[in-house]
Amino acid sequence: MREYILETKDLSFKYPDGTKALKSVNIKIEKGKKISFIGVNGSGKSTLFLNFNGVLKPSGGSLIYKGNAVKYNQKSLLELRKNIGIVFQDPENQLFSASVYQEVSFGAMNLKLEETEVRRRVDEALKNIGMYDYREKAVHFLSYGQKKRVSIADILVMNPEVIVFDEPTSSLDPKHSSQIIDIFDDINEKGITVILSTHDVEIAYSWSDYIFVMKDGEIVKEGTPYEIFSDDKLINECYLQKPLILETFENLIKSGKVKSTETIPRNKQELFQLINA
Ligand SMILES: Nc1ncnc2c1ncn2[C@@H]1O[C@H](COP(=O)(O)OP(=O)(O)OP(=O)(O)O)[C@@H](O)[C@H]1O
Ligand SMILES: [Mg+2]
Repeated sequence: MREYILETKDLSFKYPDGTKALKSVNIKIEKGKKISFIGVNGSGKSTLFLNFNGVLKPSGGSLIYKGNAVKYNQKSLLELRKNIGIVFQDPENQLFSASVYQEVSFGAMNLKLEETEVRRRVDEALKNIGMYDYREKAVHFLSYGQKKRVSIADILVMNPEVIVFDEPTSSLDPKHSSQIIDIFDDINEKGITVILSTHDVEIAYSWSDYIFVMKDGEIVKEGTPYEIFSDDKLINECYLQKPLILETFENLIKSGKVKSTETIPRNKQELFQLINA
């Protein structure tokens, strides 16, 4: 039986200025999966993510964590935030400590871990995101992409059950972008549910187990990467783009160069294998 770690039921959210950013969102997120949210600017991804760990409180409907509706009292919020870590879209909104090391150790120290364990986790996270050599550096002198990576380390040290990354690879160079994706795969293999939002259709297509598409504060479609990106009408209506790998595959099938196969390539290697077979 499927186990859902996070659900929303008719969740809506209205900002104080009256903007209805979320309209009756109903989703179920399966435990241990790799999930992407895609959709144009302003479709509500960040607002939904901020509802996921209680930074924002729904104006209507509910958020359900492990089968229980979240109550917005202090105890329930603490519990939620301990288990669901969020990396904000803009690192400037997240980082506040003087040095990189202080910044990343803060969350782990709050968990009241032994000092040696804190040190171990911080060192590991900084090495993973390639910022270990910068550990004594002042956060405000870092480049934007470096800040972004530190904000990701902030959450990695906490070891939550679910990690929500709001556009984790935006403004990262190709090397660090693929490094971050590898980290997501590693933590996912340890059983952590990884949720991200992205405008990079190639990442959404090749990385995700399951995708939600948002438009105007609503979920307009959900499904496997192939179900989403083979839907040309959806791609048009939601101003998405077909991933190059899938487009190439569809083209090869159409022209008869590749016979229809059971396996649809998800990445370059799989596509090349098919072409060379
Ligand atoms: N603090 C705020 N006050 C009022 N309206 C807001 C606020 N933050 C976001 N909005 C509005 O809510 C809607 C959803 O915004 P949100 O930031 O969730 O979109 P998004 O999908 O994350 O977009 P992007 O891809 O640009 O990050 C937009 O119409 C936006 O203008
Ligand atoms: Mg956003």
